[in-house]
Amino acid sequence: MGSKLIVIEGLDGSGKGTQSEILYTTLIERGYKVKKITFPDYDSPTSSLVKMYLGGELGDSPDDVNAYAASAFYAVDRVASFIKSWKKDYDECDYIIADRYVTSNIIYQMTKVEKAERDEYIQWCEDFEYNRLKVPKPDVVIYLDMPPEVSQKLMSNRYNGDESKKDIHEKNMNFLLACRESALYAQNKLNWIHLSCASGDTPKSIEEISGQILDILNLNQ
Ligand SMILES: Nc1ncnc2c1ncn2[C@@H]1O[C@H](COP(=O)(O)OP(=O)(O)OP(=O)(O)O)[C@@H](O)[C@H]1O
Ligand SMILES: [Mg+2]
Repeated sequence: MGSKLIVIEGLDGSGKGTQSEILYTTLIERGYKVKKITFPDYDSPTSSLVKMYLGGELGDSPDDVNAYAASAFYAVDRVASFIKSWKKDYDECDYIIADRYVTSNIIYQMTKVEKAERDEYIQWCEDFEYNRLKVPKPDVVIYLDMPPEVSQKLMSNRYNGDESKKDIHEKNMNFLLACRESALYAQNKLNWIHLSCASGDTPKSIEEISGQILDILNLNQ
C-alpha cells in the first residue's frame, strides 16, 4: 500500500523539529504505523559532506559551494538514508514524517542561482532526486513560515546566546532572508501548503501551530 509522505519544511529554527515530533506522537497515539525521518541525517557518516559545507570547511559563505554541488551533498545523504533505513518503512507504514526533505534544497540552494534560472534549478533538483536517485515524492509539503527575524531569536535561546554554535546558513541573515523569498516562490509553484507561524514579531504558540497541521492533514477530530 505504501506510506503517505508528509514533509514539514521551513527555514532554520522555524519549528520543524518541534512540530514533526508532536505530529509523530499524535499519530502513534491514534494507532497508526509511523516513521519519522530527519535531514540531514547527522547521525550517519553519509552527512559528512553536508557537515563540512555547513561547518565552513569549504568556505565561510554559502556561495562558496554552488547550488548544484551543495544540492548533491544533501541528495546523496538522503538516498543513502532511504536505502539503508526507511525503504521498508515506506512500504509498510501509514505515514512517514520528514523534518526537511528535497524541498530544503529547493529553498536554500535555489537562492544561489539567478532568478531567471530558478525554474531550471527546480526541474533539475526534482529530476535528480525523485527520478534518478529515486527517493519518494512527498504527498504533502507543509511550509512553516516563521520570519527569520523571529526564528533567529528562538535559535539564540536554543544556543543560549552562543552565536558560534550557528552554522554558515544560520549566521547569515541576508542569506536567510533570500531563502524565505525562494521558499515563497517554490511554495506557489509546487503547491506547498503555507502555514503562517507568527503574527508580526510574535510566534504563534506551539499548540496552535500543531492544531493547524492536523487541520491541514484532515486529522482533527
Ligand atoms: N511556536 C513556537 N513558539 C516558541 N518557541 C518555539 C516555537 N516553535 C519552536 N520553538 C522553539 O524554537 C527553537 C527552534 O525550534 P525547532 O528546533 O523545532 O526548529 P527547527 O525548524 O527544527 O530548527 P532547525 O532548522 O535549526 O533544525 C526550539 O528551541 C523550540 O523549542
Ligand atoms: Mg530541527
